[in-house]
Amino acid sequence: MNMAAFKNILNRATAGACAALLCTLAMAQQAGAADISRGAYLARVGDCIACHTAGPQSQPFAGGLPLNSPFGIIYSTNITPDPATGIGNYSLHDFSRAVRNGVAKDGRRLYPAMPYPSFTAVTDDDIAALYDYFMNEVKSVNHQPPETKLPFPFNIRSSLFFWDAAFVKRERYKPHIDRDAQWNRGAYLVQSLGHCGACHTPRGLAFQEEAYSESSPMYLTGALVDNWFAANLTGDAASGLGRWSEADIAAFLETGHGGQVAAFGSMTDVVENSGQYFHKDDLNAIAHYLKSLPAYGEKALYKPDTPAVAMALSAMVTGEVERPGAGIYQSFCAKCHQVTGNGEPGKFPKLAGNSIVLSKNAASLIHLLLQGSKTAQTKEGAEPQEMPGFSEKFSDRQVAEVLSFIRNSWGNQASPVTTRQAATVRGALQKKP
Ligand code: HEC
Ligand code: HEC
Ligand code: HEC
Repeated sequence: MNMAAFKNILNRATAGACAALLCTLAMAQQAGAADISRGAYLARVGDCIACHTAGPQSQPFAGGLPLNSPFGIIYSTNITPDPATGIGNYSLHDFSRAVRNGVAKDGRRLYPAMPYPSFTAVTDDDIAALYDYFMNEVKSVNHQPPETKLPFPFNIRSSLFFWDAAFVKRERYKPHIDRDAQWNRGAYLVQSLGHCGACHTPRGLAFQEEAYSESSPMYLTGALVDNWFAANLTGDAASGLGRWSEADIAAFLETGHGGQVAAFGSMTDVVENSGQYFHKDDLNAIAHYLKSLPAYGEKALYKPDTPAVAMALSAMVTGEVERPGAGIYQSFCAKCHQVTGNGEPGKFPKLAGNSIVLSKNAASLIHLLLQGSKTAQTKEGAEPQEMPGFSEKFSDRQVAEVLSFIRNSWGNQASPVTTRQAATVRGALQKKP
């Protein structure tokens, strides 16, 4: 962004065009972030690049990434400033309508695979900064992505009018005056550009997110997306963020390591494309906001300090455990995660008390065990480490046994994983295009 545009936005901000609480923080950041423009930063926060780029070797923002939805495959569009195939002809008003209301310039209603139900909360100033970035800094690419062709009735885009009317609030974020500026900044980022709820909030029958803010207890309580279970982010002490500190959460978003958990699956992409670029103040604000969410109904427990746990552990060390799954764990997992379940700091995650291991929905664990994964690669974080995939080696029953074992060892107490659950996830992964 050039200096004039920068000052222009700053002036509008000082003139009180956006709500006072948000502005204090937004302006403090502008002063500190000399390296990239504010619009470029906001595009990182919104992770526009992840969905609007077809793959690692493709042109940024030129569209064409296939996104799985329950209705079929939806292709992202070209949002570079190319007038023919991108959004070069979009005015600020058109851009705002597409990003915040889900209606393209030609009147086409967008599928909510584009997270406009969250982006609707973005402030006018942030939309203007984003627009400036896409028009003046993003390289124009002439590329026509494949057309989205969903089966009837989902191909009738105009019917989304009713969906929007029923489920999308179309309101900008309103600061809560009873909360401090940091909380409001965090709430704003999580609910609007961060669109954390698009993965972490359960969906209803019409695929709508059950809530868009903490005013509902369902908000961010965990959901299944693309065969990954995006964890419960409320204050639950076992499977949620109850035992995490604000510093743990900030570190996790920035490096993929924190609160004993290593990011994997679709969360690795969020950390690599988006989280690692957040300003420290914003990471702390998000952590502060998440820690304010009260615990929401889960049944797992973590109780490491009992005599039974100590006895079970000494039996494991001497190799005398007869429980199903114990032998598999000793042979295939203990090498990295240790018989104590303590892992190795910065390398192999600790499984004892790990909130994702205690998650009510084990889909992420099954998916990870079958396919393996690699920790996030970030500028500040540790060297990437690999967890091997075991889909060839283990039957569904063995998957269920070893996961049930880690969910009920070292003080972990969570529901066992069934052979059927393992078979369901394996089947879904095999069907994936
Ligand atoms: C989770 C994936 C996802 C993210 C994140 C995302 N988009 Fe999209 N976006 C899509 C998809 C998919 C479409 C096409 C929807 C359709 O065809 O109905 C789309 C469509 C659009 C359009 C309409 C363009 C047109 O004319 O078709 C614009 C503008 C847009 N996105 C801008 C953005 C911006 C700016 C960001 C970041 C702040 C962003 N998107 C983040 C998935 C995403
Ligand atoms: C070669 C070392 C290695 C072996 C062997 C291994 N893991 Fe892992 N495991 C890892 C790494 C590295 C991660 C982090 C992956 C990521 O973040 O993408 C991980 C992650 C996990 C997680 C998710 C926890 C978290 O916070 O990310 C679980 C659960 C898990 N492993 C269970 C197992 C089980 C069960 C076995 C044996 C069947 C096993 N692992 C074998 C290295 C290993
Ligand atoms: C594309 C889907 C997706 C989006 C968007 C997303 N997450 Fe996640 N997230 C996941 C998945 C899947 C997991 C479970 C795997 C793991 O723990 O890494 C997860 C795990 C987490 C965890 C670890 C929780 C635990 O107990 O293990 C935190 C913290 C988190 N996400 C925060 C966020 C925040 C904050 C945002 C928004 C800025 C966000 N996520 C956006 C998919 C997503």
